[in-house]
Amino acid sequence: MSGTGVHEVFIAKASNSADKIDATLSYILQIEVVLLTIVTAAMIFFVIKYRRKKGRASQNIEGSMLLEIVWTIIPTILVLVMFYIGWRGFINIRTTPKEVMVIKVVGRQFSWLFSYGNGKQGDTLRVPAGKPMKLLLTSRDVIHCLYIPAFRIKEDCVPNMETYLWFTAKEPGTYDIFCTEYCGLGHSGMLSKVIVMPEKDFQQWYAGLPETGHISGLKVLGDKGCLGCHTTDGTAKIGPTFKGLYNSRVTVVTNGKEQTITADEDYLRRSVTDPKADLVKGYPDIMPAIPATPEELNAVVEYMETLK
Ligand code: CUA
Repeated sequence: MSGTGVHEVFIAKASNSADKIDATLSYILQIEVVLLTIVTAAMIFFVIKYRRKKGRASQNIEGSMLLEIVWTIIPTILVLVMFYIGWRGFINIRTTPKEVMVIKVVGRQFSWLFSYGNGKQGDTLRVPAGKPMKLLLTSRDVIHCLYIPAFRIKEDCVPNMETYLWFTAKEPGTYDIFCTEYCGLGHSGMLSKVIVMPEKDFQQWYAGLPETGHISGLKVLGDKGCLGCHTTDGTAKIGPTFKGLYNSRVTVVTNGKEQTITADEDYLRRSVTDPKADLVKGYPDIMPAIPATPEELNAVVEYMETLK
């Protein structure tokens, strides 16, 4: 449903918890609407009925024990039912089934990294339909928050701490992932997708060997989170675009001094592993050093050469 017009109004209920959470919210909303109507109607009625009139003296009205009891007991029951339904839903969300597949999630400025037990990694979350999955969340820098509206689940990613979520996706589809904790300049662009696949397709994808031989530079950029801040199409984001960067002249700040250098291969490699050495003028000094193997750096440089 993601990306369709319907999505804006009704977000798909794509996980096991979605119905329960929606039922809880809808129960609370219905009570609110009924109470709001009664209170507003009574208010309007009394304002008109007891408005000031010439020659009418105000009466002294004694309290009513019956009324007091009624409007104490009924709301208490309503609120306790709300608590019970919410508590049941909470237990369900926090109790992970025994047989789950675990995926590690790292939030970082400004992208997501999903890692599987067999070493597979990516910036898109892939899961099989109908199987319980557990996400172990953490952050490499500041607090982020993983939110999958279609699954009705949300949890903070905190540095040096592990939090968790679990869900069973109902059926194949693609749904949005947002970061809902303000984490810096690129927060609003910290988007991804969860792709729910038929179980057979997922197993095939999962068993597919991690790419060997020629590594794709674009894939390295995606997996390492570079594309959270840099684009390949010429638009500037948090950081400069990669388009046309290869062998171009750039003005950088080195040890506080400006200089213009050529973005050659050495410069590009150094900018990945030691980004603070030569900071491109006009951009904030926020990029973390990205660990990369020589093969990965080669692939990235090779790819950048194609972005003329
Ligand atoms: Cu990460 Cu907001």
